[in-house]
Amino acid sequence: MSSSLSIRLADPDASAYIPLPELSARLGIPLYDPGEPCDFLLFYQQGSLCLRQMSDTTVGAVRVDFDNEALYYRQRRQTQPEALLKAAGIKNGQGIHAVDATAGLGLDAFLLASAGCQVTLFERSPILHALLEDGLRRALQSAEERVRDAAMRMHLVQADSVDAIASVTPAPELIYLDPMFPERRKSAKVKKHMLLLQQLLHGQGGDRETELLAVALASAHKRVVVKRPRLAEPLAGRRPSHQLEGKSSRFDVYVVPASTP
Ligand SMILES: C[S@@+](CC[C@H](N)C(=O)[O-])C[C@H]1O[C@@H](n2cnc3c(N)ncnc32)[C@H](O)[C@@H]1O
Repeated sequence: MSSSLSIRLADPDASAYIPLPELSARLGIPLYDPGEPCDFLLFYQQGSLCLRQMSDTTVGAVRVDFDNEALYYRQRRQTQPEALLKAAGIKNGQGIHAVDATAGLGLDAFLLASAGCQVTLFERSPILHALLEDGLRRALQSAEERVRDAAMRMHLVQADSVDAIASVTPAPELIYLDPMFPERRKSAKVKKHMLLLQQLLHGQGGDRETELLAVALASAHKRVVVKRPRLAEPLAGRRPSHQLEGKSSRFDVYVVPASTP
């Protein structure tokens, strides 16, 4: 996290799941002081942990919500999630262990888990990890069985994937990478959320992309899938085995050769 960003913690409607002093100590984020302006506010609202950028009120608060209609629609429609699952080579994910090495808000990981995969999510930002943890807690209590089932297949770890992937045993069939890419200012809500994340995470030292791809290729059993903007160069300049293009993004697929016994 950039040291120039100030983040404060608040609970305007006293709905904190984790007591604020405990969360404050865990994340190293001071409690909100109305006399002191801040760049980001992390707060509980109606029992959900939310993040808001104080300088841009058009974006709205970000929270991890696996139990929403838009995500359910994404799960069923024929384009983006299909492209991710197609790139991942997954029809029925049962028995497949996937690693999402750049978990973010967990949307892609949820799509993989909804397809039946067991998914280990690595997220190195303590704030994103706290949002994800909170979203998973609520998903496990969802009234929808499909949401609870998917959440039960998701295992969240706070770690830098470059250091953590090699310790995953047995080796995952699939490793998925979606490193942060400079977003162009667009109106779609999801883009605005990504822009907010980009500003929050700016200066945290880059995504170690070259190392990330190298360690993923060395660790995945079958394939590595990298999400890229449609016109971007392949990650670390490394040519994929093949590509799948969507409307605004592209999936670069690296098929890992079977190791000889
Ligand atoms: C573009 S977002 C991923 C969005 C995600 N695919 C989703 O569906 O919400 C990238 C995330 O990867 C995380 N990240 C980047 N490099 C990482 C690394 N080396 N290890 C763990 N997390 C990393 C960032 O903190 C950020 O939250």
